Amino acid sequence: MKKVLFLASGSGSNVMAILQHLRDEAIEYRLITNNAKAGIIEKIKQFSSIETAVFSNEHFSTSSAELIDAVNGFSPDLIVLAGFLRKFPNELINKYEGSIINIHPSLLPKYGGKGMYGIHVHRAVLEAGEKESGMTIHEVTSEYDKGRVILQCSVDITACTTSEDIATAVLKLEHANFYKAVRIKLGL
Ligand code: GAR
Repeated sequence: MKKVLFLASGSGSNVMAILQHLRDEAIEYRLITNNAKAGIIEKIKQFSSIETAVFSNEHFSTSSAELIDAVNGFSPDLIVLAGFLRKFPNELINKYEGSIINIHPSLLPKYGGKGMYGIHVHRAVLEAGEKESGMTIHEVTSEYDKGRVILQCSVDITACTTSEDIATAVLKLEHANFYKAVRIKLGL
């Protein structure tokens, strides 16, 4: 049985979409969040077998032994950062190199890097007058949004007039495609 560890900070709609797409696969999941108020904590309760752990931001910035132990104790085949808005600890990046993937809501290398997340990305895309945007799933390295690209999909945004419109279009694209990168990385 494959093991997938999700890291999420917010609503977790991408986590839910992946669980839905891969519902017929034998995969054991676990969730770690840095946000005790994250929407995903309630949503994921419908999957009674999935354990959730909350670690404060300090655990992530100091690579605390409790956090490292929680990840290593699960021994994941794949770590999936799905709307996770903290820097993932280097100690774990080194140990699980090539087995950590992140979703970014733009066509990297465009609109990536520190401070580029969520609506900030979509505002920059709108201001630049782009005709298309998209999503990138990439391997996580110690540099923000720089690892090897696993999957990239684009969407026409010429009809979008606000950054929220772009966010909606990109999120829909993410929900339809993120799971494909999980399949690729797990060899399913
Ligand atoms: C997604 O659009 C994801 O691409 C973005 O946060 C959103 C999370 O939505 N991630 C980043 O900006 C990371 N740099 P969700 O919590 O509903 O899945």
